[in-house]
Amino acid sequence: MDKTEKIWLNGKLVDWADAKVHVLAHALNYGTGVFEGIRVYQTPKGPAVFRLKDHVKRLMDGCKMMGFDLVFDGKEYGFDDIMNAIKDVVRANGEGVDYVKPCIFLSGEEVGLNPIGVPVTFSICCVRMGAYLGSASAGAKIITSSWHRPDNLCGPAGAKVNGAYITSTLAKREAVSQGASEALMLNSVGHVAECTGENIFIYRHGKIMTPVPSESILEGITRNSIIQIARDMGYPVEETTISRFELVSADEVWMTGTAAEVVPVVNIDKRDIGTGQPGENTLKIHARFHDIVTGKVPEYDDWLDYVN
Ligand SMILES: Cc1ncc(COP(=O)(O)O)c(C=O)c1O
Repeated sequence: MDKTEKIWLNGKLVDWADAKVHVLAHALNYGTGVFEGIRVYQTPKGPAVFRLKDHVKRLMDGCKMMGFDLVFDGKEYGFDDIMNAIKDVVRANGEGVDYVKPCIFLSGEEVGLNPIGVPVTFSICCVRMGAYLGSASAGAKIITSSWHRPDNLCGPAGAKVNGAYITSTLAKREAVSQGASEALMLNSVGHVAECTGENIFIYRHGKIMTPVPSESILEGITRNSIIQIARDMGYPVEETTISRFELVSADEVWMTGTAAEVVPVVNIDKRDIGTGQPGENTLKIHARFHDIVTGKVPEYDDWLDYVN
């Protein structure tokens, strides 16, 4: 990952090194923040943010769930203000920005859990990330984590709440220390939920399946895009419950996420999936997704917000 020049902080563009908060910030101590991860692609019409409206909506829904007021340095921010702020910081950082991370979090300088009345800070960082999980042609080896995806009763699973990512970091550590690149988490009733920062899909008996949102997953925006793209390509797609047996005996498995995009899974817990190579359907969907995000398919132009 490469740094960029400017970070947007409470309405101002500041130098990367100057975007600082106090060590007693509530979010640092208690995880009280909501964030997004958003991709920027180069298209024939210039840089475009993929599904920006959906990311801003999910960010604002997460803040509503957490009870955060969207007032930063005395100015109230609505949907359009957040959209514009994200586009401004992408523009300010010039060429090569491919990932944006807005974060709205409780700051302040006090000790105590009570979140009410704690000031809210809004930062938007851009980076040059490149591929997050390697190339689609190589595929990924993953493990099943001993950590479970936190249940909807333990927090809002549908929101990207900073503190909830403890589980993802524990699972990721488990995967990487075992030589895998990702970890699958089961939910509290043992069904397949998702990976640390990706949703999961299987292709089995001629049908695509992915866990339904009530399985305590994040409703990924890439997941939603892949469901629509696959249906448009003529595949039957079902949102359902998936067992570990269905996963391992699937013909193909892939992960989807903003950072990871579409990554074939070739091995889970040292068992090959299908032939042990990226699946043919996975690669077709991956190629279609790539054409869509890079502005080559006019029918999906609504999903791109051009920066200039
Ligand atoms: C836990 C988790 N699941 C799934 C996803 C994929 O969601 P999206 O496609 O919106 O990036 C992410 C990434 O944001 C995530 O953090």
